[in-house]
Formats: sequence, C-alpha cells, structure tokens
Amino acid sequence: MLVLAIESSCDETAAAVVRDGREILSSIIASQIELHRPFGGVFPELAAREHLDKIDPVVKEAIAAAGIEKKDLDAVAVTQGPGLIGSLLVGVSYAKAFAFGLGIPFIGVNHIEGHVYSVAFENPPVEYPALALIVSGGHTNLFFVPEEGKYKVVSRTRDDAAGEAFDKTAKVLGFPYPGGRWIDETAAQGGNPAAFDFPRALPQKATLDFSFSGLKTAVALKAEELRKAGTLEARLPDLCASTQEAIVDALYAKISLAVRENRCQALAIVGGVAANSRLRDRLANGWKALGLVRPPILPEMTYCTDNAAMIAGAGAFRFRQGHFLRLPDTLTLNAFASPEF
Ligand code: KG4
Ligand code: ZN
Repeated sequence: MLVLAIESSCDETAAAVVRDGREILSSIIASQIELHRPFGGVFPELAAREHLDKIDPVVKEAIAAAGIEKKDLDAVAVTQGPGLIGSLLVGVSYAKAFAFGLGIPFIGVNHIEGHVYSVAFENPPVEYPALALIVSGGHTNLFFVPEEGKYKVVSRTRDDAAGEAFDKTAKVLGFPYPGGRWIDETAAQGGNPAAFDFPRALPQKATLDFSFSGLKTAVALKAEELRKAGTLEARLPDLCASTQEAIVDALYAKISLAVRENRCQALAIVGGVAANSRLRDRLANGWKALGLVRPPILPEMTYCTDNAAMIAGAGAFRFRQGHFLRLPDTLTLNAFASPEF
C-alpha cells in the first residue's frame, strides 16, 4: 500500500511516499527558515505564498525519489490542522486536487497525531502503553498511547510552547531566531544550571499541564540587571544554562508524573526541542528510574521535526481502519487552525 502525504502546516513544505505505513520510500522537506529569520518568527502570509511556490516541485520530487509513478499510489494523506490556516489550505487544496485527479482515497490527518506517529518507523517496534511528548516551537503536549493508533491528550501548555519559551528568552538575550539551539550551545560553555533560580510553573502534582510564559519575563529582568552591572556577557552561559534547566525541569517533572500515572513502558519524544542536549542527558540518566523498559525513543531529527513521512504513517493507519474519503466526498475535507482535541 503506497501513500503519498503532504504536510504544510507551518514553515516546511513536505511530501513523502511511504509503503505499508512503515517503509519510507522518500521524504522531501523544503524549509523556509531563512525566509522568516529577519522577522524573528514565522510570517504567516509569507509562509502560505512560499508553500504555493514549493508544493508542486516538492511533491514531484517525492514521487520521483520514491521510484514510483502517480498511478501506483493507493491513497493521498494531508495535514488538515492544527497550524497556520493559509499554509494548511495550500496543502489541503493541492492534496485534494491530487486525490481527485487520480480518483483514489483521501485522508485528513491531525498534525499532532502525525508527530506521535513518527515513532512508527522505529525498529524494534514501540512497547505499549507508551507516552509521547511532542515538544516544538508550536506544541507542548503529552499523549498517552495505549496501543498503536490510539491517543489521549493528557497535558498541554496553558500558554507558550517549550520551543517558544526557548526562542523568546533567546531573543531577549540577543540570539538569532530560532534561539533554542543557541541557548543549548551557550549553556554548554560551562554554564551553571543552578546559577539563577528561574520559575518552574505548575509544580503541583494535580496537573500534568505546562506553562512557560512567566519565564521570559524572569530572564529578561535578570538580563537587564546583569547588563546594568556590566556582567551580562560573562554570565551568558550561566543565564542560558539556568533558563534551559527551568524548561527541562518542567518537562521532566510532568513526563515522570505521566509515565508513573499511566504505567507506561516506553517514552517517545518528538519535535525540535527533542534536540536539546540537557533534556536528552536527563532522560538518558533517568529512564530506568521512571520504570521504562527501554531508553527514550528519539527519532532521527528529520523525523522529529515537521515532515510528511509521519503524516503518511498516520494516514496509512487511518486508511487501514477505513477512515478515508472517496469521490465526491473528497471535496468536503477542510483545514482547521486550532487543535481539535
Ligand atoms: O519541530 P520544530 O522544528 O518546528 C516547529 O516548531 O514545529 O521545532 C522548532 C523548535 C524551535 O523553537 C527551536 O528553538 C527548538 O525547536 N530547538 C531547540 C533546540 N533545537 C531546536 N530547543 C532547545 N534546544 C535545542 N537544541
Ligand atoms: Zn509540528
């Protein structure tokens, strides 16, 4: 079974061909990051226009790289939402026309569910029940996954996503967008994670939710104090290490609570923040104490961040379950901007 998937929810135009929901034949990603950098974040209108330019060549490249022809495809899957509505509409409209033209089934996929699905390419397969943390510039969610294809959101961020917290504090400290990587690298220059005690929101055990909006203000105030004292430059590694520790502490605390509460066997972490070295260290040392049967599953970075292979994986599962549209219903599928769970 060959599924072509298209992903355009944010600033990556992506297409992939996946066989039987497991074998990635091609995965093409055109990133717009350079285009948005001068704006310090994703500029929605620009993103939509760029998707419009890139979608056709990206899809053609994915089909060619997979060594197949259009007529070999069994279904088309597309990210329906959540994301930037203008960007999503480009992918949805293109995919709809594509499926319509070939007269094959059409599958709408939730982007976050797609992220959870990126572990489907793991070898050996994931042990269930599992917990998945989706942690990027746009999302911070914990999902309980009792078995393949079943998900329950057990927590969300009440304000900023963890990646957003990294990026906003990095901006305050003068790093380029996206700043998570800079915080990580600067902290690694001998920064002391206990140098400054930044807030850990929602420490109570009663909730698994996250909150990161207070952190930026605390870091900005401290940075201003150090700037006035003329020591900001010298203390940057400490400032970055302490900021990172506050974010990682919050993530780790809720992961550990959710793993225990749900008696999870495996833990998967996906999204750009999964690249963070401190988060990886904490989990590399802590997974046994959490009662997990294997070290955390951290998919390759190309499948951790936005890509279409994960959408094809989730799409293939839905296809097998019979959740797809056929002509003329194909035309009824629409994009949605906000999370639908
Ligand atoms: O998944 P992603 O590529 O895009 C979406 O936001 O969907 O995630 C990007 C986020 C950015 O916020 C970026 O700063 C963060 O991942 N990031 C990191 C690191 N590398 C990327 N955050 C902390 N430490 C890193 N090493
Ligand atoms: Zn994403």
